[in-house]
Amino acid sequence: MPELDGRVAIVTGAARGIGLAIASELTRAGAVVAIVDLDEDQAAQASAGIGGPQRGFRCDVSDSAECARTLDEVEKELGPLDILVNNAGITRDSLLLRLKDEDWQRVLDTNLSAPFYLTRGAARGMMKRREGRIVNLASVVGLTGNRGQANYAASKAGLIGFTKSVAQELASRNVLVNAVAPGFIETEMTAALGAETRQAISERIPLGRLGDPADVAGVVRFLVGPYASYITGQVIVVDGGMVM
Ligand code: NAI
Repeated sequence: MPELDGRVAIVTGAARGIGLAIASELTRAGAVVAIVDLDEDQAAQASAGIGGPQRGFRCDVSDSAECARTLDEVEKELGPLDILVNNAGITRDSLLLRLKDEDWQRVLDTNLSAPFYLTRGAARGMMKRREGRIVNLASVVGLTGNRGQANYAASKAGLIGFTKSVAQELASRNVLVNAVAPGFIETEMTAALGAETRQAISERIPLGRLGDPADVAGVVRFLVGPYASYITGQVIVVDGGMVM
């Protein structure tokens, strides 16, 4: 029997990139995955592409009321939630002196407030059932900072603090909360970098290449599965050795 047989999971931002790879991996492990994304058609297409009993749900996760509605819909249609993967994230890069209020706020709303809304909503049921797994997609930039990414780095560092605090609050009810911090992964988010930048980045990575979404998805599968039953409040860095 696959290790996540019948478990109900939400993966946000799962219409493409790392989220889609996570949704596919959890499906292979036997979970029923709610693919949550901004665009209904894309979410539906992604879910059809994966196959299995998946469903696409439209939700802007930066909106508290939409998060509450989506949690309700998912639990009504698929059953009580066992796994929450807060993956949706955006960048609005700019050097500090040119960073606009709206680009600061939008990044914080999507990368930090959204995981708060969904984790708060999901935690009650998980605590009652004394079982649950929550994984937050942070970034190595949340550990190191990065020029031109003050908003993004602050959101990801905040997410790491959030992960550790909530892990402490929920541990006695066997709800495990961890973060994964990817380095540079090949997705649309990094596609915008030119060939020269990508070459320079690869040279800084001991494993000599950018990561694949599947490299991240495998770690998430581990964290929500039976072999991670004694791990909580951790940040697992998946970056080819770039930050040690
Ligand atoms: P991506 O840009 O390829 O995909 C993000 C997905 O999230 C898209 O489908 C988008 O529609 C969705 N999304 C964005 N805002 C949303 C909202 N308000 N509500 C619902 N869905 C929304 O991103 P990628 O590269 O797959 O990144 C996934 C996560 O991994 C993000 O949290 C990102 O910060 C993190 N990450 C990515 C790295 C990389 O190198 N690609 C490195 C480190 C962290």
